[in-house]
Amino acid sequence: MGPERRIAVVTGAASGIGHATAALLLARGHAVLATDLVAAGLAPLAAAGARTLAADLATDAGRAAVVAAADALIAAEGAPLDWLVNAAGLIVLKPIGEVTGDDLRHVFDVNVGSAFVLTQRLGERMRDGGAIVSFSSPSAKFVATPEAAAYALTKAAVSQVTRSFAKAYAPRGIRVNALSPGITDTPMQARVLREVSARRGIPEEQLAAERLASVPMGRSAPPEEIAGVVAWLLSDEAAYMTGQVVNVDGGMVMW
Ligand SMILES: NC(=O)c1ccc[n+]([C@@H]2O[C@H](COP(=O)([O-])OP(=O)(O)OC[C@H]3O[C@@H](n4cnc5c(N)ncnc54)[C@H](O)[C@@H]3O)[C@@H](O)[C@H]2O)c1
Repeated sequence: MGPERRIAVVTGAASGIGHATAALLLARGHAVLATDLVAAGLAPLAAAGARTLAADLATDAGRAAVVAAADALIAAEGAPLDWLVNAAGLIVLKPIGEVTGDDLRHVFDVNVGSAFVLTQRLGERMRDGGAIVSFSSPSAKFVATPEAAAYALTKAAVSQVTRSFAKAYAPRGIRVNALSPGITDTPMQARVLREVSARRGIPEEQLAAERLASVPMGRSAPPEEIAGVVAWLLSDEAAYMTGQVVNVDGGMVMW
């Protein structure tokens, strides 16, 4: 990556990995539109110079609002979009027999619909040579937590959205990759530990230890360690890489 200022849209920026990514891009001097359903977590990014927008990416209206805000940023910067990070995500945690049609539709709208539509619409506004990163998950490949079945199917779908757009955009040199984080210390991960341990009737510490036992490196990651790989995937150092789902998980998944 050169020292020049790039223009980026980051979703899910109020919390966890999206927040760490937006903060890193801002710290490196890039122009960032940071968006999330929850306005509160965006305030520190606004203070650091980001444009911010509260929008519900489960809806067409929310997605259109993000595109309009991206257009405003593009106009203000006088240059096309360089990067998109689709980090917004939602997890549904229920015994598989209790998952409803509404659960499936909502989690699909948030995790897959938003990534698909923003990759479409913001891809159109991207300069040739731009880059997009979305988020898959180890749960797309194996079942450690059957209570996350609805979430897991959306993450498998994100992997394929990534491949489809990688092929569609390759002639323009726009690279589309997904990152598959392992156990990352975010509010989503805290919810998994809290709710799944309660459902199983075991102490949270026991579930945390069982989950860590599947990680050869024996530890979870702070969100900043994931954000660093996102920034690298966006950068020109990864210029020959597209259509990949990259495991960043302490060795949990080696294929
Ligand atoms: N934390 C992990 O261990 C882990 C592991 C694998 C994959 N991931 C994926 O990484 C991405 C980031 O996860 P995280 O752990 O930082 O989660 P997080 O819950 O901390 O952050 C996700 C953000 O998405 C936002 N969001 C949810 N629904 C939305 C909606 N309808 N519209 C707009 N924004 C919405 C939330 O408000 C939240 O700020 C997600 O796609 C997640 O599935 C996380």
